[in-house]
Amino acid sequence: MAGNSSLRLLILGLSLLSFSFQCFCHCNVNKKGETNSTGIKGMFVFGSSLVDNGNNNFLPNSLARADYLPYGIDFPLGPSGRFTNGKNVIDLLGEQLKIPSLIPVFADPQTKGSKIVHGVNFASGASGILDDTGSLAGHVMSLNEQIRNFEEVTLPELRRQLGLGCSRSSESSPSLGNYLFVVGTGGNDYSFNYFLANRSNVSLQTFTANLTSSLSTQLKKLHSLGARKFVVMSINPLGCSPMAMNMMNNLPTTTRNGNGRRCVKDLNRAAHLFNSRLKSIVDDIRAEMPGSALVFVNSYKIIRDIIKNPISKGFKDSSTTCCQVTSISEGGNGILCKRGGQVCKNRSSHVFFDGLHPTEAVNVQIATKAFVSTLKTEVYPTNIQRLTKL
Ligand SMILES: *[C@@H]1O[C@H](CO)[C@@H](O)[C@H](O)[C@H]1NC(C)=O
Ligand SMILES: *[C@@H]1O[C@H](CO)[C@@H](O)[C@H](O)[C@H]1NC(C)=O
Ligand SMILES: *[C@@H]1O[C@H](CO)[C@@H](O)[C@H](O)[C@H]1NC(C)=O
Ligand SMILES: *[C@@H]1O[C@H](CO)[C@@H](O)[C@H](O)[C@H]1NC(C)=O
Ligand SMILES: *[C@@H]1O[C@H](CO)[C@@H](O)[C@H](O)[C@H]1NC(C)=O
Repeated sequence: MAGNSSLRLLILGLSLLSFSFQCFCHCNVNKKGETNSTGIKGMFVFGSSLVDNGNNNFLPNSLARADYLPYGIDFPLGPSGRFTNGKNVIDLLGEQLKIPSLIPVFADPQTKGSKIVHGVNFASGASGILDDTGSLAGHVMSLNEQIRNFEEVTLPELRRQLGLGCSRSSESSPSLGNYLFVVGTGGNDYSFNYFLANRSNVSLQTFTANLTSSLSTQLKKLHSLGARKFVVMSINPLGCSPMAMNMMNNLPTTTRNGNGRRCVKDLNRAAHLFNSRLKSIVDDIRAEMPGSALVFVNSYKIIRDIIKNPISKGFKDSSTTCCQVTSISEGGNGILCKRGGQVCKNRSSHVFFDGLHPTEAVNVQIATKAFVSTLKTEVYPTNIQRLTKL
C-alpha cells in the first residue's frame, strides 16, 4: 500500500516536471498540468473573513459582508467582499506563489470548469470551526460545510479538469501535492461564540481542546481527499482589535499596548492558548497524515509586534479603525464599516481597517513573512517558500 502511493507520488512529481500529466490508464494527457516556478499550481482556502475573497456576497441572508465601499477602496476591482481596503493575505500569498492571484469563490455560480484549476476559496466571513459559530450573522458557511463543498462539488470537477478522473481506484483520492491548502479560522469561535454566550458552559481549556481537536479532524479529512501541503494560520490578537477594546475597555483585565490603549487580556489569552495547541498539532498530526507537510503562520505574533511598536514597522495608528464603523449605540456591532461611511486618508498608516480586520499594509507584512521569514516564532517549522519545495 505505502509503496504504491509513494510510487504514485513520484510519478506525479515527474510528470509535473515535464509539464504534462499522464494518467496511469493513459486515457488522458492533460495540458493544464503546468505550474509556476514555485511548483504550486493553486490554493484551496478555508476559513473566516480574514481569508474570505467574497463568498458571503452570494449568501442572501448573510449579514457579514464587505461588498460595499469603503471596503475595496484600494482594491483594483473595488468592493469585492474582501474584508479590508485592498488585498487580503490570500491575494498576497497568491502573488508570492506566482499563481493567477485572484482565487475564485466557491459560492459564485461562475466558479466552475477551467476556472477552478488554480484553486477555489471556500472561506466565509463570521464562520468558525464549530457549526453554530456565526449563527448570529445569518447564513454563513461553517468549516465543515466548506470542506463538504470541496469534497462534493469542487473535487469531482477538479478531477475532470485535471484528467484525474481515471485514477485507478475510485476509493483513493489523487494526491493534490501541487496545491496549497490554506486554513485560517478559529477567532470567531471565541469572539462570537464562547465569549459572547458562553453557552458551551465550559472552561476555556475544554472549549479550546474541543476546537483544536475538531480542527485536526478537519485537516485529516482534507488529507484523505488528497491534500498534502497545508498552511494553517494562527488566530490574531483578538483582544487588541478596536471592536474588543471599545466593547470591553472598561474591564480591569487589560494590558497596555504601544499606543497607550488597552488590549483585552481574556481574548488574547484565549487566542494564545489556541495558537499554542495549533502549533503542536502541526508537529503531531504528520504521523497521521502520510506524505503531508504543514506550516503554521503566527499572524498573532506578527500583528502583536506591529501593535507593540507601530512606528518602527511603518504604522502610525494601531488602535482606531480606519473606516467609520457601525457603532454599538446605533445598533451596529462596532466591527463592519458603515456603508459609504468615512475612511482615513492614509490607509497604510493604520493597522486596522474596520473593527476587526487589518489593512492591506498589515496583510503585506503577514504574507511576506509567511513566505520568507526564517524565524520559527513567525513560521513553524519553516516558511511557505520552503514548503513549496518539499
Ligand atoms: C504563472 O504565473 C503567471 C503570473 O501570475 C500567470 O499569469 C500564469 O497563469 C501562471 N501559470 C500557471 C500555470 O500557474
Ligand atoms: C452551567 O454549569 C453550572 C455548573 O457548572 C450549572 O449549575 C449550570 O446549570 C450550567 N448552565 C447551563 C446553561 O447549562
Ligand atoms: C464560561 O463558563 C465556564 C463554566 O461555568 C467558566 O469556567 C468560564 O470561565 C466561563 N467563561 C467566560 C468567558 O465567561
Ligand atoms: C465539541 O463540543 C460539541 C458540543 O458543544 C460536541 O458535540 C463535540 O462532540 C465536541 N467535539 C469534540 C472533538 O470534543
Ligand atoms: C502614509 O503612511 C505611511 C506609513 O505611516 C507613510 O510612510 C507614508 O508616507 C504616508 N503617505 C502619505 C501620503 O502621507
